[in-house]
Amino acid sequence: MPDVGTERNEGAYLVIQFSELKNRNSSVAVVGLGYVGLPLAVALSEHFDVIGLDLNERKIQAYLEGKDPTREVGDEAVAKCSIHFTTNPSYLNKAKFIIVAVPTPVNGDKTPDLSPIIGASELVGSNMSEDTVVVFESTVYPGVTEDICGPILAEKSGYKLGEQFFIGYSPERINPGDKVHRLHNIRKIVSGMNDEVLDVVDAVYSTIIQAGTYRAGNIKVAEAAKVAENSQRDINIAFMNELAKAFDRMGISTHEVVDAMNTKWNAMGFRPGLVGGHCIGVDPYYFLYQAEKLGFHSQIIAAGRRINDGMSNFVVDRTIKELIRAGVDVSSAKIVLLGMTFKENCVDTRNSRSIDVYNGLMEYGVTPVAVDPVADADGYQREYGISLASMEQAKNADCLVFLVAHDEFKGFSADELKALYNEKQKNKVLIDVKGIFSRVELERAGFRYWSL
Ligand SMILES: NC(=O)c1ccc[n+]([C@@H]2O[C@H](COP(=O)([O-])OP(=O)(O)OC[C@H]3O[C@@H](n4cnc5c(N)ncnc54)[C@H](O)[C@@H]3O)[C@@H](O)[C@H]2O)c1
Repeated sequence: MPDVGTERNEGAYLVIQFSELKNRNSSVAVVGLGYVGLPLAVALSEHFDVIGLDLNERKIQAYLEGKDPTREVGDEAVAKCSIHFTTNPSYLNKAKFIIVAVPTPVNGDKTPDLSPIIGASELVGSNMSEDTVVVFESTVYPGVTEDICGPILAEKSGYKLGEQFFIGYSPERINPGDKVHRLHNIRKIVSGMNDEVLDVVDAVYSTIIQAGTYRAGNIKVAEAAKVAENSQRDINIAFMNELAKAFDRMGISTHEVVDAMNTKWNAMGFRPGLVGGHCIGVDPYYFLYQAEKLGFHSQIIAAGRRINDGMSNFVVDRTIKELIRAGVDVSSAKIVLLGMTFKENCVDTRNSRSIDVYNGLMEYGVTPVAVDPVADADGYQREYGISLASMEQAKNADCLVFLVAHDEFKGFSADELKALYNEKQKNKVLIDVKGIFSRVELERAGFRYWSL
C-alpha cells in the first residue's frame, strides 16, 4: 500500500493522522450500514479500528447477532468482524476518518431527496472531534459535498472547514449481487478538498482496494463521474428498450439481435429490460435536477429516463395481448410474476419496477402472484404491502412472467416450466423480459413465448 501522504507532505499533520488510524490509536467510522456501508466497514475493519453507525436499530441488532440481511458479505464475515456496531452517534468523536454512506433517493416528483445526507451531516457535525476527515460515498450531484454537507458539518461542529476538519468524496461502484466485481477489485475514485486531504483519503482506500484508486482532480469531478457513469448506463439501456419496442412490431427479438451484435469487437452488450434500483434509475435525476437549476435542459438523459420508466407498462400490455391472442380469459387468469427484486441475484427490492408490472396488471383486474426466491420478502411486504409467494404457490399458472434473470430461474428446463402451469391450460404463455430462456427451445416445447 503506497503511503502517499508521507511522500508528498513531509511533516504534515494529516500524515500523522493516517498513521494514527493505522496504529488504531483513532478509529475509522462508517455512517450508514446498508449495501454500500456494510461491505466497506467489514473490509476496513481488517486494517483499522472501525465504528459502524446506523440509526436503524433492527439493522444494528441483526449485525450484532452476526446476520447479514444484505447478503453482500455473508453472516460469517459479520459475526467474525471486529466492527463496533452502534446506533449511538456519540462514538463518532473517537473517529478521525468518517465515511458517510446513507441513501440518496428521489422524491415523488423525482427531485433529489437530500434529507438522509443532510441528516447524516448534522449527526456527524454534532459529534465529530477536531481534525477529522469526512468522506461522502453517497451518490450526489456535483456540489452537494462542498456546498451543502461541508457547511452543515461546520455549523454543527463549530469547527472551521479546511483548518479544523476536512472533506472528501469517493463514489461507490459496487454492484450488489455481483460475485465477480467486488469492493476490493473495483478501481475507486477518490477526491479531497486539497492535495493533502486527498493523500489521506487515497491512503485509507488504498489499504482495502486491490484494484487501486483514481485520484480525481477535485470533489466535483468525483461527484460528476458517478452520476455520469450511471446516466451512461441508463441511456444505453434506454436505447435498447427503444429498439425493443420497434423490433417488437417487426416481430424480432431484441435479445437475439444483441446476441448477434455482440459478435462485433466493439459491441457494448447492453440489453433491454426494466431499470429500477436506487442507482441507475435514480442518479440521472440528480444530474437533471442540478443541470436544470443552471438553465441547462438535458435531452438525451431525460429521454432515457422516460423510456426506461415506461417499460413496465409495455411489458404489461404485451402480456395481456399475448394472453388474449392465446385465447386465455384474462380476468380469471393466474399470472405469476417471477423475480421481484430490482435486478438479478440481489435481495434488494427497493425501487424495483416489478411493482409497476404488478400494479399495471391490477389495472386490468388481475391480481398476479408474485414470487421471488431471492428477494428480501419482509422488505417487499414493508415497502409495497405485498406478500411474496413461494415457488409451490406459483403452480397452476396460466401465464409465467419472468422479470429478472436470477440464476435460479436460468436453470429451469422446459419440463420444469411446464410443471408450473395449470394442466388444463393448453396455451402456455411465457413472458421472458430478460431473454433468459431459448425461444426456439420453448416454442418447440409448445410454449407461447414472448421476450423483449
Ligand atoms: N446499493 C448500491 O448498489 C449502490 C452502489 C453505488 C452507490 N450507492 C449509493 O450509496 C448510497 C448508499 O446506498 P445503499 O444502497 O447502501 O443504501 P442503504 O439504504 O442500503 O443503506 C443506507 C443506510 O443508511 C442508514 N441511514 C440513513 N440515514 C442515516 C443517518 N442519518 N445516520 C446513520 N445511518 C443512516 C439507513 O438506516 C441504511 O441502513 C446511496 O447514495 C446510493 O445511491 C449504492
